Amino acid sequence: MEITIRQSLPSDFESIRHVVAQAFRDVEMSNQDEYVLVGRLRTSDAYVPELSIVAENETGQIVGHILLSRISIVDGAKAEESLAMAPVSVLPNHQNQGIGSRLVRAALDRAKELGYGSVIVLGHPGFYPRFGFRKASEWGIRPPFDVPDNAFMALELQEGAFKQAGGVVRYPEPFNESAIESM
Ligand SMILES: CC(C)(COP(=O)(O)OP(=O)(O)OC[C@H]1O[C@@H](n2cnc3c(N)ncnc32)[C@H](O)[C@@H]1OP(=O)(O)O)[C@@H](O)C(=O)NCCC(=O)NCCS
Repeated sequence: MEITIRQSLPSDFESIRHVVAQAFRDVEMSNQDEYVLVGRLRTSDAYVPELSIVAENETGQIVGHILLSRISIVDGAKAEESLAMAPVSVLPNHQNQGIGSRLVRAALDRAKELGYGSVIVLGHPGFYPRFGFRKASEWGIRPPFDVPDNAFMALELQEGAFKQAGGVVRYPEPFNESAIESM
């Protein structure tokens, strides 16, 4: 199956909602409201249109989506800009075919091109290290909530981005209204 990875368009928004809802439908660690989060992020200051990316099959169906949004890592009066990768969604009948990995790689490449220095993800420790993510605690970067240490991960897009970046991640408002523990 031929899959195209590209930036999302306003005409994709309904399909994205469907893909996100379906992807998380049977995920236990989820409140199944990730599609609401995506909609809220899209109308927030944290939204970066270039970092809302879809996977489209040859019939024009959207089968996957990824979103990176602006966050900051705060240490006292100091705040470093970064990105949160959340959520990553692939339609259940299209999973395990490499689509999620292509979305992650495309999003990281694009974020780097745009000049962002780093990315934070809360997710499966079995999935994200293959893209270079490591435990955020290695750099003294902490989540604002209680999660297993190995599920909260970070990646430097620019070498040395985390040299002075220790602190607590501050998520934009839409995350606080949503089931953040499911990301
Ligand atoms: C996670 C997800 C985006 C991966 O997309 P995908 O297209 O299936 O991924 P790929 O085919 O590129 O890679 C598959 C790998 O991801 C792993 N993976 C998929 N879901 C996983 C999960 N819930 N926990 C751990 N690893 C998982 C597979 O085991 C496989 O690993 P392998 O290559 O070592 O065999 C997709 O499965 C999905 O949408 N899941 C439901 C929503 C979700 O949990 N999103 C991520 C939140 S952190």
